[in-house]
Amino acid sequence: MAGMVGLSAASAADPVPKGDAAAGGRLFTELRCSTCHSVRGVGGTAAPALGPRAGQSYTPNVMVSSLWSHVTKMWDAMERAGVSAPKLTAQQTADLFAYFGGTPAGDKPGDVSQGKKVYEAKLCASCHDNQYFAPDLGRLAGKINAFTMGSGLWEHGRGMLSRLISRNMTWQTLTPEELGHLIAYLNSGD
Ligand code: HEC
Ligand code: HEC
Repeated sequence: MAGMVGLSAASAADPVPKGDAAAGGRLFTELRCSTCHSVRGVGGTAAPALGPRAGQSYTPNVMVSSLWSHVTKMWDAMERAGVSAPKLTAQQTADLFAYFGGTPAGDKPGDVSQGKKVYEAKLCASCHDNQYFAPDLGRLAGKINAFTMGSGLWEHGRGMLSRLISRNMTWQTLTPEELGHLIAYLNSGD
């Protein structure tokens, strides 16, 4: 199975990694997500149940934009509960979301020029276009998908948040559409 995934990822136009729900289920317990969240009725009740919502399609952009939009409150809750925030790869992020909601539906490709507007409106440009404030994202062109953005959030999000606070800026939420456009723009390398 792993081999097949590797082959199809290399030949497919869409590089979103395919999640392994069983691996995601193990991560969910090992990383103690289950102390706060439930999946299909099993787990904690301190935080929202995870998985597809009625009336909403379950796609990588839906999942990761929701994580992006809620993550600062989650970090606060983790700090209070003494749970350390994990660093997760794109594959592990895909595994977790596969556990929450099965194989996701595909996302419509984003629009590069819309993405440039989102990049500016959501303040990304104010840091990432200046090497003194943040790493250049240009080197990631062509390699970005929703789950690498999720992984970037797990790995670098707190550094981003402290930089925002020191510049008197607030954390920006993203809708699924905005995330899709951003991904298209960042992949274009413009
Ligand atoms: C200490 C409690 C706590 C732990 C542990 C925790 N979370 Fe959360 N999480 C929260 C809270 C609280 C929110 C909602 C924040 C808000 O209301 O904006 C949240 C939000 C989320 C969301 C977005 C909400 C949604 O409905 O889509 C996702 C996805 C998520 N968490 C995944 C995880 C994963 C994966 C783990 C384990 C690696 C984890 N959480 C561990 C408290 C926690
Ligand atoms: C206040 C400054 C600031 C803003 C605004 C900001 N970032 Fe960042 N970003 C950073 C910093 C600093 C890092 C590196 C943090 C670290 O490694 O601890 C980072 C890291 C990242 C990474 C991981 C990069 C890598 O090397 O893998 C991604 C992806 C990213 N940001 C995307 C965004 C997007 C998308 C936006 C807009 C929605 C945004 N950032 C807004 C400062 C910012």
